[in-house]
Amino acid sequence: MSWSYEDFTKAIYKLTNIDLSCYKERQMKRRIDSLINRKNYSQYDEFYSALVADQDLLESFVNYITINVSEFFRNPSQWEVLKRDILPILIDRYGKLKVWSAACSTGEEPYSMVMLLHEFFPLEDITVIASDIDKEALDKAKEGLYIEKSLQSLPKEYVKKYFTIKDGLYKIDDRVKQRVIFKRHNLLMDPYPTNCHLIICRNVLSYFTEEAKSKLYFKFRDALEEDGILFVGSTEQIIFPQRYNLKSVRTFFYKKI
Ligand SMILES: C[S@@+](CC[C@H](N)C(=O)[O-])C[C@H]1O[C@@H](n2cnc3c(N)ncnc32)[C@H](O)[C@@H]1O
Repeated sequence: MSWSYEDFTKAIYKLTNIDLSCYKERQMKRRIDSLINRKNYSQYDEFYSALVADQDLLESFVNYITINVSEFFRNPSQWEVLKRDILPILIDRYGKLKVWSAACSTGEEPYSMVMLLHEFFPLEDITVIASDIDKEALDKAKEGLYIEKSLQSLPKEYVKKYFTIKDGLYKIDDRVKQRVIFKRHNLLMDPYPTNCHLIICRNVLSYFTEEAKSKLYFKFRDALEEDGILFVGSTEQIIFPQRYNLKSVRTFFYKKI
């Protein structure tokens, strides 16, 4: 008998440690079904066997299901709030900051964070931990080459200051690159960093089921220092944040209480 979607997700979990049952099913199933069709497979088990046999196909499958869209200073008004209202208070309280960009995709978010922190600190005092589940995205992040569209929300003076143009692509300055530590990390499985002053986790929580999201909020809360801040994406406001000992301090910003 051919596999159900559930059989497929269980097998993928064993193979990759990615628990697809934590992602909203309708959205994820539609994406996977359309990929299977495009690759000319008709059954989940047949596609699974191909993934097992071909490491490149497996990596591109993980890359496809994880959706890596990002850009520098995505939703600029929220970064403005971060710069104007959030960072000065955190810096006042803690001095140097431990910052984690979780689900950082191809690096635009942690690199934006370094540029912003450089308004307050010398570069050598800045470290941003950046993590993602997707190896291909992390490889691109480390390469640091971007198309013009990724820079559309970036202030012009930052483009001048931190990028060189090479073959039509924008290359991030090595001095910024060196301030970011990239690592592979699965938000659903792996231990979280501790004592963070600021966690940026944007545009990934919306892919997860309510149950999975709730678990992650507790983990983020535990990863934060007291009064530390969780910065979430535009469609990811937390309902009843007090359940997780979090308090909304601005739209999209939650403080650990
Ligand atoms: C749409 S991108 C968001 C990038 C960036 N945070 C932003 O807002 O521009 C979503 C990222 O979440 C990552 N992701 C998906 N599931 C994950 C998981 N379980 N653990 C860690 N990262 C995950 C994907 O690989 C992808 O790079």
